[in-house]
Amino acid sequence: MPRSALLNVMVKAARKAARGLSRDFGEVENLQVSIKGPADFVSAADQKAEEVIVQELQRARPGYTILAEESGEISGTDKTHRWIIDPLDGTTNFLHGFPLFAISIALERDGQLEAGVIYNPVTDELYTAARGSGAYLNDRRIRVAGRSRLDDAVITCGIPHRERGDHAQAIRELSVVMPKVAGIRRTGSAALDLAFVAAGRCDAFWESGLMPWDIAAGILIVREAGGIVTDFENKHTMLETGDILTGNEAIHNDLRKLLNKSRLPV
Ligand code: IPD
Ligand code: CA
Ligand code: CA
Repeated sequence: MPRSALLNVMVKAARKAARGLSRDFGEVENLQVSIKGPADFVSAADQKAEEVIVQELQRARPGYTILAEESGEISGTDKTHRWIIDPLDGTTNFLHGFPLFAISIALERDGQLEAGVIYNPVTDELYTAARGSGAYLNDRRIRVAGRSRLDDAVITCGIPHRERGDHAQAIRELSVVMPKVAGIRRTGSAALDLAFVAAGRCDAFWESGLMPWDIAAGILIVREAGGIVTDFENKHTMLETGDILTGNEAIHNDLRKLLNKSRLPV
């Protein structure tokens, strides 16, 4: 599949950083048994991966602004273009030797998502999309699943944990969704949740309180795979609010109505 020059730059950066992450992931298992544990090691792996990505992108497109999880915003001379980078999405999985994590890179032009790459080094699965040109898993064009009934749907979501999120609201959400669907999953990587929706592996995904780097690439990849991506009010504030709901048109619509039943009146 011929890829645009822009996507090639992004893929090259992701694959280069992935080589380091894969090596480090191999080490995590050994560290599990050490007294100190792997936490510091993993945060160093995360930072190294970000440095590699930033360096590659800056070399290919000097001047573009960067928003990256570890470095924050690096203002460039070109403010119309912005890279949005998560060098390691699924850190907790990585830390536990649980093989579900990904690198996520998006490019925004004038505030619009233009290109996205999500790469899972463990499975060597590369999800890419450029605006208007469809979404791909490696060389294969992907589309969201065609299932239209919640009864048949497998849905991923975020579940808050210690010191994070609104636990009572999450329990209300699960209690309205659980009785209606074929299955609920929690992968621990929002980028992969979106990639899985795009590839039709699951039918929908919802989560609150995410950061732009968790979802920027995935939003474009799902859209280019024919899916709908909104916040819970059917608006497009995902990168500002961190609230996201996605699926094919029918499932997205039904899930949105269901989730709204879980909201307490304000
Ligand atoms: C996390 C993952 C996770 C989501 C968290 C994110 P990180 O990103 O995407 O699925 O539930 O809210 O922070 O910390 O592993 O990059
Ligand atoms: Ca993340
Ligand atoms: Ca991260």
